[in-house]
Amino acid sequence: MLPEEGRRRLRIIDAARETFTLYGYGPIVTPTFEDTEVFTRGVGAATDIVRKEMYTFQDGSGRSLTLRPEGTAPVARAFVSNGLHKRPLPQKLWYVAPMFRYERAQSGRYREHYQLGAEALGSDDPLLDAEAIALLSSLYRLLGVPGVRLRVGDMGDEESRGPYRAELRAYLDRHVASLPGDARERMEQNPLRLFDASDDATRAVMAEAPVLLDHLSDAARTHREEVLAGLDALDVVYDEDPTLVRGLDYYTNTVFEFTCDRLGAQSGIGGGGRYDGLVESLGGPPTPGVGFGSGIERIVLALGDDESEPPGIDCYLAVPDRKLRVRYLPLLAELRSRGLACDAGWGGRSLKSLMRRASALRARRAIIVGPREAEEGVATVRDMATGEQVQVAIDELVGSLS
Ligand code: HAM
Repeated sequence: MLPEEGRRRLRIIDAARETFTLYGYGPIVTPTFEDTEVFTRGVGAATDIVRKEMYTFQDGSGRSLTLRPEGTAPVARAFVSNGLHKRPLPQKLWYVAPMFRYERAQSGRYREHYQLGAEALGSDDPLLDAEAIALLSSLYRLLGVPGVRLRVGDMGDEESRGPYRAELRAYLDRHVASLPGDARERMEQNPLRLFDASDDATRAVMAEAPVLLDHLSDAARTHREEVLAGLDALDVVYDEDPTLVRGLDYYTNTVFEFTCDRLGAQSGIGGGGRYDGLVESLGGPPTPGVGFGSGIERIVLALGDDESEPPGIDCYLAVPDRKLRVRYLPLLAELRSRGLACDAGWGGRSLKSLMRRASALRARRAIIVGPREAEEGVATVRDMATGEQVQVAIDELVGSLS
């Protein structure tokens, strides 16, 4: 990643940090790798992530470790191992971190990507789901991401899913002859995943399949209605999508996905949902949670090429005589400590080439100290836009610039 892209990414991270802070989230950092079990138990052994995409290795003591493929299970693990359930709940935590997935790399899909994410643990309030969705929506708005759409689905609770799964299985058993082998295999592990299939035969079968939304328990239906009422109150525009499934098994109730029509095949720019059983599955007390993740590279792609020029610097200190450079190091340090972005060209080069460098760095002023200035205890300050020059006593220089 070169500085052009680095600047775009920093702008995204700065905006995210501001937005997370406004919504009461505090930063959390988890290790780059975790015990493999955190993901097999947390994300689900039947998911593509766990079956095919993890970078797993053994350490010197033979322990199985895995490079973090996603951020939610590690945060839930940290919540348990640090006893965060004893703190006031919900604990609202955000992160930006690299994730590693052995996927087929293509534009927008990388084996290492950076994700910014937020997790609120310890409350089952549906308004927290609405708030998390509104947060991500407002971040995309703040950044000016074009063509964003939001779909909201529902995974129900245990009570809804049991009978629904049986009905879906019965339906699929009736249509098994029309399903390709791969879909039959997935159907055994998690029939809901078939809604996500990309082949025409499976899609045709799933188009007529029963949907979970029609089988929600009373509690799950009430939860959903309150989430949607929250989104309406917050003016968040969404489409209800009864077939939305996500690639992680921990979701319960609300699931959502933001897509961006600028992104082509990898159109998912961010997504998340509620995961009321995750903390318990990692050995903690029953603790509901909700959150989301959004890929920074995908946000960069969605924003397109930013034509704006690099920001430039405040001052360029030009000291053509090598022997003088140590004397002016404290001046450079003092300017920087006053908050001025500075760079310097030290000796061995002509004044002309130093001025070319100052222009290339888009410096607003050049501070020139040649042998004559050094002897007189002054510096020549040149306005790089107008070419105007003034002489300033070195002692007064910092005060005159800051
Ligand atoms: P996810 O949908 O797997 O969810 O990933 C979240 C986001 O990360 C995606 O929407 C996408 O922007 C980005 N992303 C995923 N894989 C890649 C990749 N290979 N290359 C580039 N970007 C990618 C999760 O990971 C959940 N932990 C989100 C969550 C948090 N749910 C609840 N809390």
